Amino acid sequence: MSKEHIKVGLLGLGVIGSQVAKVLIDKEKELCRQAGTPITLHKIKVLPADLDKPMARALPPGLLTIDNDSFFEDSSINIIIELIGGEEPAYSYIQQALEKGKHVVTANKEVIAKHGPELIEVAQRRGTGLYYEASVGGGIPLVAVLEHELKANYIKSIHAVINGTTNYILTRMSKDGIDFDSALKQAQELGYAEANPANDIEGIDAAYKLAIMSTLAFQSYVRPGDVYHEGISRLEARDFKYARELGYALKLLAIARQCDSTIEARVHPALIKDDAPLASINGVFNAISIEGDLVGRVIMSGKGAGPLPTSSAVIADVLRAARNIESGTACRIELFNTCKTIQKINEITTRYYMRLTILDSSGVLASIARVLGEHSISISSVIQKETDTLSRTAEIVIMTHPALGYSVASALNDLGRLEVVKEVNNVIRVEEQ
Ligand code: HSE
Repeated sequence: MSKEHIKVGLLGLGVIGSQVAKVLIDKEKELCRQAGTPITLHKIKVLPADLDKPMARALPPGLLTIDNDSFFEDSSINIIIELIGGEEPAYSYIQQALEKGKHVVTANKEVIAKHGPELIEVAQRRGTGLYYEASVGGGIPLVAVLEHELKANYIKSIHAVINGTTNYILTRMSKDGIDFDSALKQAQELGYAEANPANDIEGIDAAYKLAIMSTLAFQSYVRPGDVYHEGISRLEARDFKYARELGYALKLLAIARQCDSTIEARVHPALIKDDAPLASINGVFNAISIEGDLVGRVIMSGKGAGPLPTSSAVIADVLRAARNIESGTACRIELFNTCKTIQKINEITTRYYMRLTILDSSGVLASIARVLGEHSISISSVIQKETDTLSRTAEIVIMTHPALGYSVASALNDLGRLEVVKEVNNVIRVEEQ
């Protein structure tokens, strides 16, 4: 039986696209051997501005096109790799490619998080496949693990450091004692943070990734809007210092849990015990801890972004698609079979770290404890930090026992009204892993 000649079309020649093109060309022989069938990079759809890029000039002539029709209408292409990023036109391109019966490989977390189920429905109807390993965790093989390897488990929880830019910033703040703006500037100078870093800093990027992981893990569609997210810009160097003194590290955590018929999914700064596995994940590294009923805890870590790790995941998907084409099987993706209720952030109970500036005089701690008590919040410890004799104020750090989000929100409201509380400087959840 003659082998199918797999032809790959690539959408986008940015940093990741260029690296993927390079691997497909440089490793062609090896990839053909792995797939058991010839695979070639057949066409790359680029923008006119890309034609002058050094990578574009270095490619064999005839590979590049700026014409959408000649790309999508090329019936010899059986796998399309989408690496242009962002929601549109990427979403429309993926939809169009699947409708034409092509297998699609993408690294696009925004499109998969927002439109995954519709695209999977098109893939199933057209008997083709949608592959998105590179959309979460860069080179760490997370999608395959959740989709296949841990399938026998009831997944109880996911804890992840899933955004490299923010983890780099937090690592610098923690280790060098610098403030948020200086750490962000360093991250931008090193090319980690984008010129507009809002998606990373505000936890939006991590929320897309958590939505994808939760959907796979819990078999219930978790939309990006279902994931509560809070960024890192309120954190100060002193929060890291105080956390460390209390035996904690501070991370931007992505957390998801399922319990009976409910799911919680949230991204926010969190204090975690300094001997917890995720506490030692520094710099741009990512790590994910998954707890299943059979397997227990599985922890994976590695480079969550960048051209080389991302190309590792993209090419693995190309090989998987090629094997499916060769064996005549569509990618067997199941549609989500449950519909669980998403818990609101204030319905969740956690411990809290609270840093307050208060008047330094007798009876003040008692009035704060009374307000917290009125909202059923039990204090586990209070430490007085710096005192300013001139303004007669002191900084205190309160650690609470587990408290319901609603209670904490009302208590903070009442604390803010107390004359003796000059400022509620920061309130951070404490996560027991
Ligand atoms: N901006 C992301 C991060 C990489 O910093 O982890 C792409 O997902």
